[in-house]
Amino acid sequence: MKKILIGTHNVGKFRELSILVSKKTKKISPKILKIKSPEETGKTFNANAMLKAKYFAKFTDIPVISDDSGLCIKSLNNRPGIYSARWAKKYGSFNKAMKFILKKMSKKNDRSATFVCCLALILDRKKTICVTGKVKGSISYSIKGKKGFGYDPIFIPNTKLITFGQMQKNKKIKMDHRYMAFKKLKKKIKI
Ligand code: IMP
Repeated sequence: MKKILIGTHNVGKFRELSILVSKKTKKISPKILKIKSPEETGKTFNANAMLKAKYFAKFTDIPVISDDSGLCIKSLNNRPGIYSARWAKKYGSFNKAMKFILKKMSKKNDRSATFVCCLALILDRKKTICVTGKVKGSISYSIKGKKGFGYDPIFIPNTKLITFGQMQKNKKIKMDHRYMAFKKLKKKIKI
């Protein structure tokens, strides 16, 4: 693969996916092609990842990879889930959305949560691959760390004692839900 369009306007996701894709492959951003993001009308991570990849693929002949991801909190009926980005808009910022979550969680005993990522890769008109990666963890009692993006400062993966927001970027990238999905993708195709 000589080039790939990384179909996302999210800076954090773009950076993580760029690091995972082979160094030899040139990574193109939809910003360079002046393409906006589609509306996420799907009801699942899978449907939204496919919807985004198909949308971006209309503008180019090179392979496209898109991700739909989010934080599913068990005691909040798996919300924000596919609405993770939308909650940040709704409450004004990620910081405000995290504060809202922490307030809601103060009455809950079960703090378990899962970060989920669906990756959709469109190679050409005939070949599309979709995979899901997950990382299990729990919601911290406060916002901790300034690294990463989105909900990283309130998510503690099960194998660690610190939040994703406190973790070195290269460490988080090698253990998160996108990485897990990417590992599955790599078993199916050289990317
Ligand atoms: P969407 O896939 O564009 O709907 O956006 C997913 C949202 O989930 C992002 O904007 C983040 O808020 C959140 N999210 C997804 N992956 C991560 C992650 O690795 N760390 C922190 N937040 C994430």
